[in-house]
Amino acid sequence: MPTPSRLAAARALHAVFGSGHRVSDHWDAGLSSEDAGLAQALLGLCLRRWGRLQAYVKPKLKDQSRSLPLGSQVALAVGFAQLAWMDGVAAHAAVNETVELAADPVLGFPPHKGLVNALLRRGAEKRQQLRADLEALPAALDRTAFVEAVLQSALEPHPAMGKAGLEALWSKLQAPPRPAFRVLRGEAPPELEADAQLPGCWHFREGAAFPGPWLQSGAGMVQDRSSQALMAFQWDEKPLRILDACAAPGGKTTSLGVRFPEARVTAVEREPRRAERLKKNLADRGVKAEVVVAEVTDFLANTTATFDLIVLDAPCSGSGTLQKHPELPWIAGNIDLERLSETQRELLRATIPKLEPGGLLIYAVCSWLPEEGEHHRAWVRSAHPELRPALVWPGEYGAESGATSCFRPNPLQWDGEGFQAFAWAKH
Ligand SMILES: C[S@@+](CC[C@H](N)C(=O)[O-])C[C@H]1O[C@@H](n2cnc3c(N)ncnc32)[C@H](O)[C@@H]1O
Repeated sequence: MPTPSRLAAARALHAVFGSGHRVSDHWDAGLSSEDAGLAQALLGLCLRRWGRLQAYVKPKLKDQSRSLPLGSQVALAVGFAQLAWMDGVAAHAAVNETVELAADPVLGFPPHKGLVNALLRRGAEKRQQLRADLEALPAALDRTAFVEAVLQSALEPHPAMGKAGLEALWSKLQAPPRPAFRVLRGEAPPELEADAQLPGCWHFREGAAFPGPWLQSGAGMVQDRSSQALMAFQWDEKPLRILDACAAPGGKTTSLGVRFPEARVTAVEREPRRAERLKKNLADRGVKAEVVVAEVTDFLANTTATFDLIVLDAPCSGSGTLQKHPELPWIAGNIDLERLSETQRELLRATIPKLEPGGLLIYAVCSWLPEEGEHHRAWVRSAHPELRPALVWPGEYGAESGATSCFRPNPLQWDGEGFQAFAWAKH
């Protein structure tokens, strides 16, 4: 039986390449912290180098015209990734455990047990060479058309960076992201140290353990640096009614509740299971909000309520999360960008009339693609003259000097997920 870490990584690879699913947030739940560390490293390597790993195997097959069953592709990727890049894993463990994985009738492909064994043993004899051979393959094998479009869009406001910028960004996105935390109550735990630039943001100290009990107590939360920075919008009003239109799991609802404790916060979420998680997160953190489980367009159509502040963190492709989700390039075929863009426009159409005069609307997506951001900004400009850009972020977060209404930090210099966020105030 392969170790739990290898089994978890293999299961996640099947979900991505077999079913076209994202890696679930809880894919490594239940693993010990040591196993989770190994599983995360292994899965990250396989996803980030999947194209090269498969291209390396192909010429070694007798019949190259036939593609390998997924179970064999997964086993070989898991085995070669360990041998090439995980020096701490002994060669015999990498080979033997992977051969067992290949023999698993669900995750592997038992008729290829011998083939997997032979190929991995050959690789194990010269691990340095194996690594050099894999790295000599064109990096473009791991960059799908989706990746190219995302990189181009990310750097579109910075054309001077040219091709070198694309390469630098791609290489930056290959490193696993640095988790960011926000302290909600009391002191930060000893495992964390303050971010050098962003007030209120914290990171792991070198070698520290994951502060699980602290997070479970609700005294803090994981929140990406970009979300923290965009939720620190500069606005001096005291809103009485706030709408978080797409709320689960509640990172932004929490930021709103903590910052505006006097306001009545309505947090809408359409997925019942995500709404349960939202309720629990808010309760653990001591944040008061009314959670409504509904399509926000239905909710807004059936209420007379209006709001002084609306945050619309819309569903999107997640293209700005490539660093955290290296599976995205491989499942992008399932992303219906046109539909997402239409949905985002509908959400804007439904929320804008519910903004009080003098109120602030913040639209955000964790995506660099213009269809999900810039195009909507242009539409608001022409269709909603009652909205004017609100300069709520420091200029360094946008492409402007002074303050900006567009949160879109330069991805080559900014450590955080790719976001496009816009702020408008109503006349
Ligand atoms: C990008 S996530 C929001 C993340 C959240 N704002 C945070 O900071 O933790 C979008 C959420 O909106 C929900 N959602 C998508 N479309 C919706 C709709 N029409 N009405 C209500 N919720 C929606 C999704 O289920 C998902 O939980």
